[in-house]
Amino acid sequence: MLVNIHSILFAVSSLLLSASVSGFTISAPVNARAGHLTDIHWTYQPDRDPATFNLFLTNASYAFNVQAILGENLRSESRGISVVVPATVKAGEGYALLMTESTNWDWILASSPTFSIAAA
Ligand SMILES: *[C@@H]1O[C@H](CO)[C@@H](O)[C@H](O)[C@H]1NC(C)=O
Repeated sequence: MLVNIHSILFAVSSLLLSASVSGFTISAPVNARAGHLTDIHWTYQPDRDPATFNLFLTNASYAFNVQAILGENLRSESRGISVVVPATVKAGEGYALLMTESTNWDWILASSPTFSIAAA
């Protein structure tokens, strides 16, 4: 898993400036709190987007450094999930959600605006 996270980090820093060709958009969660459920919503264009994706919590001010894996092979058509923000995540600002292809973790589909996470 560490190897994968490092390769994502690498890819993200190189892809950061390239425009996303996917139709996905993902919103910043509201009132995210470590150790608690938070709702995450995205939009999906079935004619352009893959049917599944992976979802990561990243630090946007540090090259989208991956802080946690929130889901793998999530179904695009569900357009939202409730996930528990890991209790180990540090409270603070500058977090962003990152969507990647589920078969190619290096392929970024979309990122959210930044948001903060409150202490557990
Ligand atoms: C994000 O990364 C920056 C740079 O390393 C760090 O100063 C900041 O505390 C990190 N933010 C969070 C919420 O961990």
